[in-house]
Amino acid sequence: IKTIGVLTSGGDAPGMNAAVRAVVRTALSKGIKVIGIQRGYNGLLNGEVREMDLRSVSEIIHRGGTVLYTARCLEFVTAEGQKKGAEKCKELGIDAMVVIGGDGSFKGARALANLGIPCIGIPGTIDNDIACSEYTIGYDTAMNTAVEMIDKLRDTTQSHDRCSVVEVMGRNAGYIALNVGIATGALAILIPERPYDLDHDIISRMNQTQKTGKKHFIVIVAEGVGHAQELANEIQARTGIDSRATVLGHVQRGGSPTLRDRVTASQMGYHAVNLLEKGIYNRVVAVSADKIVDYDINVALSMHKTIDTMMLDVANTISI
Ligand code: F6P
Repeated sequence: IKTIGVLTSGGDAPGMNAAVRAVVRTALSKGIKVIGIQRGYNGLLNGEVREMDLRSVSEIIHRGGTVLYTARCLEFVTAEGQKKGAEKCKELGIDAMVVIGGDGSFKGARALANLGIPCIGIPGTIDNDIACSEYTIGYDTAMNTAVEMIDKLRDTTQSHDRCSVVEVMGRNAGYIALNVGIATGALAILIPERPYDLDHDIISRMNQTQKTGKKHFIVIVAEGVGHAQELANEIQARTGIDSRATVLGHVQRGGSPTLRDRVTASQMGYHAVNLLEKGIYNRVVAVSADKIVDYDINVALSMHKTIDTMMLDVANTISI
């Protein structure tokens, strides 16, 4: 491997810059040239590329977003787009690719791999919904941002004896919601992985808790469950408690990455380039039992992960 391409794809995540930096600097330390591809697979198809040197990744470890920009590329979902991408790699002299993103991005990487371009995937998404990895870059920062926002909401919720229904991101997964719910002492946490019963999981818990003197409430709804405003209306109608809905939205995707995101991203970027240097191709880098590991890309894409039900028990027991 003489030249590698690196891109970020899908939703940006804090820590992606640290991963790009690690890929660039590890590769350069081994005499491997790095081409930075802008705006994900779009940039590959359009030849939006630049050569990366040591200083091209200076001053980015602490910055959110991605200096390579990102996009969701519809053309790359098609066989035609993928073929064009592989041809572009050859034209640009790219011998292997490092793709930082989520499952959709890895499917693109697998397609490139099948067309003869070795690829390594690095999990970068705030959602933590990559099955092969216990951790994804951006997850910690996003959760901490959500907690900070909800702590602010708590002040006003408490002052008015209200109920705040807060929608957090996570696409179809409830990892952010579950952790954030525990960390903010939410009375109820609704996640897509577990169907909920309005009466049992929210209304009766509120009534019961009111009897113990509690007057304000926080309910966390994962976006995969959605309908925060409708839920707030319903809660108000059923309990008489003044309720407000807040959708935290894209603020969760921004901001300076936490230590955990910076360090994990650095380790993953380093590991990805080491694999390529050793001739180990078509893998997804992951965290397992706190160690950096890697899986075959096909295996990684066929894996499933589940919510830790103990976390639900923790929330139900102590957030009352
Ligand atoms: O995958 C990250 C994520 O922020 C999800 O939590 C959310 O569902 C989605 O991206 C939002 O995507 P977009 O930025 O395209 O609105």
